[in-house]
Amino acid sequence: MSKNAKLAVLGSINADHILNLAHFPRPGETVIGQNYQIAFGGKGANQAVAAGRAGADIAFIACVGADDMGERIRQQLAQDNIDTTPVEVVAGESTGVAMIFVNGDGENSIGIYAGANAALTPACVARHQPVIAAADALLMQLESPLESVLAAATFARQHQTQVILNPAPATPLSDDLLALVDIITPNETEAESLTGIAVNSDEDAARAAAVLHAKGIGTVLITLGRRGVWLSEQGEGQRIAGFSVKAIDTIAAGDTFNGAFITARLEQKPIYEAVRFAHAAAAIAVTRSGAQPSVPWRAEIDEFLQQQG
Ligand code: RIB
Repeated sequence: MSKNAKLAVLGSINADHILNLAHFPRPGETVIGQNYQIAFGGKGANQAVAAGRAGADIAFIACVGADDMGERIRQQLAQDNIDTTPVEVVAGESTGVAMIFVNGDGENSIGIYAGANAALTPACVARHQPVIAAADALLMQLESPLESVLAAATFARQHQTQVILNPAPATPLSDDLLALVDIITPNETEAESLTGIAVNSDEDAARAAAVLHAKGIGTVLITLGRRGVWLSEQGEGQRIAGFSVKAIDTIAAGDTFNGAFITARLEQKPIYEAVRFAHAAAAIAVTRSGAQPSVPWRAEIDEFLQQQG
């Protein structure tokens, strides 16, 4: 893959309604929030923005509603260096929505309404098959219909396009889909849901990675929060520590990691370097609030890495 290698991202677009409060409300409890904002989000869009701002040559396959929010998001995506030609406007639907609580520790709890994201059907994917065929890599998540993720992965395999799956949010997946994946990037919860192995240590991560390798996936990256990432290639594993920063909001940290990681790989950075680059991007993102407002540009990532020496 060269510096001009192409990336396709397929996934969701949401308007995030974010409420910061001291603690998450328990059932029946009302908690007064300290700050409220609407920010552009959605796992697909966040990963596309992370790649676009990090310098990838990227096209985004997605759907927005025929509403003001959808139009504003499309305009912003274009400003983030993303080819939005494959972003469809769905008549009669509203743009996807995420309701997000952020507690005093910077943790979040999210509920989503798919809206126009549900219109990203296999037929929609088929309309954009040329985008997948032209790409060197296809990055997806699981806020889109599963049958569409499978259709896109099938097209990708037919066209020798590498498939990277961020299996978030946690969802049971068929072996047929997993066999089409080249790189998978679950967090601990998602790794447990896919393998049945609770990931509490490096040894657990190695065992979970082995299960995913056995399903045909060559590269497994299990993100471990503050502990970094477990990287396993064909069964050879190592933990790569992240950078220590004061996190105020972890929304889209994983998305930023994924978009930055694949951008670095498409530039032919060795995988260890690509993980460090992605760690740097995610470290910057957690020091800022919101999803896409927190995603850094390339110059910021390069400067952060230089400061680390
Ligand atoms: O990963 C963070 C994203 O998850 C948010 O932007 C929200 O839209 C949900 O999809």
